[in-house]
Amino acid sequence: MLLIREPDEYRAHCAALRETGTLGFVPTMGALHEGHLALMRSAKQLTDRVAVSIFVNPTQFGPSEDFSRYPRDLGRDLRLCESAGVGLVFAPEASAMYPTNERTRVSVKSLTEGLCGTERPGHFDGVCTIVCKLFGLTGPCTAIFGRKDYQQLKVIEKMVGDLFLPVSVIGHRIVREPDGLAMSSRNRTLSADEHQQALAIGRSLAAAERAFAAGERAPSRLEAACRAMLRQAGLRESYVSCVHPNELTPWPGSIDGPHALLAIAAFAGATRLIDNCLLGENES
Ligand code: PAF
Repeated sequence: MLLIREPDEYRAHCAALRETGTLGFVPTMGALHEGHLALMRSAKQLTDRVAVSIFVNPTQFGPSEDFSRYPRDLGRDLRLCESAGVGLVFAPEASAMYPTNERTRVSVKSLTEGLCGTERPGHFDGVCTIVCKLFGLTGPCTAIFGRKDYQQLKVIEKMVGDLFLPVSVIGHRIVREPDGLAMSSRNRTLSADEHQQALAIGRSLAAAERAFAAGERAPSRLEAACRAMLRQAGLRESYVSCVHPNELTPWPGSIDGPHALLAIAAFAGATRLIDNCLLGENES
């Protein structure tokens, strides 16, 4: 497995890999876990070679967010990438991706306004900017993103379509711990008690799926039931939102399509966690 730090060198290696087959790409911020490894394995199944980027992107963190305490362990991440059969890892310095004379930000409108976008202004501009830079360097590829960050996935799909980027974007199912907690690099910052509290997120989504399957179509009642479970567990809710699965906008009345996205962001202690489910997905 090759570790590359310099953008131009990474671009050249990706181009060389593509000469002998298709290229899969998994962008990450490191602190890898089983969820990332599932994305890498999926990339391996879909493509001939797999590149992974490891870069904690400063522009997607707000001033009061956890950029400085975001977990970093490149040695461990590299061992995990190797174990997943990754051929190429790109782990640039921030100064290489954001040289002092760069002036460009990429912004996707509307889809970024609700859910995480409401309370994390500028977050998706940072995500789109770095993903666009990474796609520019990686070149034509199949890129895999986890559906835990459902809004991110939709925003990136839109960016790729709008900018005619030569990338096929694939969303991967949410990977969960055996106890149901959605895997996240932030889970390692939870105390044992906070971890137990956080299980209410997955439980409330599962309860909403059952209610939807039983015919509940009122977004407000689905959201209220989730909120009650989160509060009972001692979690501090950021949002609980039942929205259109593609537009990410609230339903004007009751849910009138086969699917709805139910998305949650909540704090367990100081750790912000997100999770979601696509209501109706497991039916029929
Ligand atoms: O999902 C993430 O880990 C990040 O937002 C991404 C896509 C790697 C961009 O920094």
